[in-house]
Amino acid sequence: MPVVPIDGFDTSVLFRWGIKSCKGVVDIALGKALIAERETMTQATTPSNAEAAAPNPERDALIQKTIQEISHIATLPEVTLKIIEVVEDPNSSAQDLNKIITHDPALGARILKVVNSAFYGLPGQIGSINRAIVLLGLNAVKNIAIAASLAKLFRGGQICPQFDARELWNHSICVACGTQLLSKAAGLGLPDEAFLAGLIHDMGIMVEMQARRGKLIETFDFMEKNPGVTFRQAEEQCVGANHEQFGSALCKMWKFPASFGYVTGFHHRPLELAKANRTLTSLVYVGDVISKQTNNGFTRDVEVDQPSEDVLDDLQLTAAKIEEVKQQLPQAMEEAAALIQGS
Ligand SMILES: [Fe+2]
Ligand SMILES: [Fe+2]
Repeated sequence: MPVVPIDGFDTSVLFRWGIKSCKGVVDIALGKALIAERETMTQATTPSNAEAAAPNPERDALIQKTIQEISHIATLPEVTLKIIEVVEDPNSSAQDLNKIITHDPALGARILKVVNSAFYGLPGQIGSINRAIVLLGLNAVKNIAIAASLAKLFRGGQICPQFDARELWNHSICVACGTQLLSKAAGLGLPDEAFLAGLIHDMGIMVEMQARRGKLIETFDFMEKNPGVTFRQAEEQCVGANHEQFGSALCKMWKFPASFGYVTGFHHRPLELAKANRTLTSLVYVGDVISKQTNNGFTRDVEVDQPSEDVLDDLQLTAAKIEEVKQQLPQAMEEAAALIQGS
């Protein structure tokens, strides 16, 4: 049953209907570049030549072992993993997703809270998950469910003078809002996908915090003693791999779409990705630098003070647009923190 978009509806949302009888899915893309990118990215297996060119079995084994360990400490709730599985399965329908969420009323309530927030600006109250799925699409509802599950994973407090998990969470909220605002400013689509990409980009640091805490503390000491090194270099020296690598491995384990694997794996070097795959990662990269410039949370891993001109040109982002995003950031962060943390 087709749905006619209503006035004031955000046209950057991807609609998806599962058609069980013919085992197909109808996606109607109302936005622009990010949606096209999402499709190419989910089909791609190797993000760039750079990644493929440097095999390192010892490092890869360490990454796998670490990722397995965190699943004993903290992971996404079963219901969220199930939601990802269902939405990524082309044979699933809106009804399948509705059934899963209806079995978890607390999650359902959290999703409705986000759906009814200023983030989507939908006219009138949405009272049911079914209606939320019809209006926003399976993918958006999946992203909301993941975002609502993430706050718990970033718990842990201060582990050494240079690192506090709450600061990483504040930074993640800042980059989530920044990425979403930048996506809008650049005339791209998928606000929830952009938000979630920003929220998860430094998830690799959270992996280190949970499974390699001692080594992470060593990393900060190493940086202090060697002021010229980047955070990634210090991680490689002390932990044996960096947070981009842990982050992209975790995305794979959680069966996130390939686009999120690129974001976690390349957010400090988006230009190393093939052009067709880099828009979302480039947005996160700029959001990350803005977070450093505005001094929002943990940013010791950000390697530059200004975003690369090439990336800005790629995204067609002007200095004026970035300034505008910076102005909008505090209010967006306040709203997002209240929404996610209160969930
Ligand atoms: Fe990072
Ligand atoms: Fe970051």
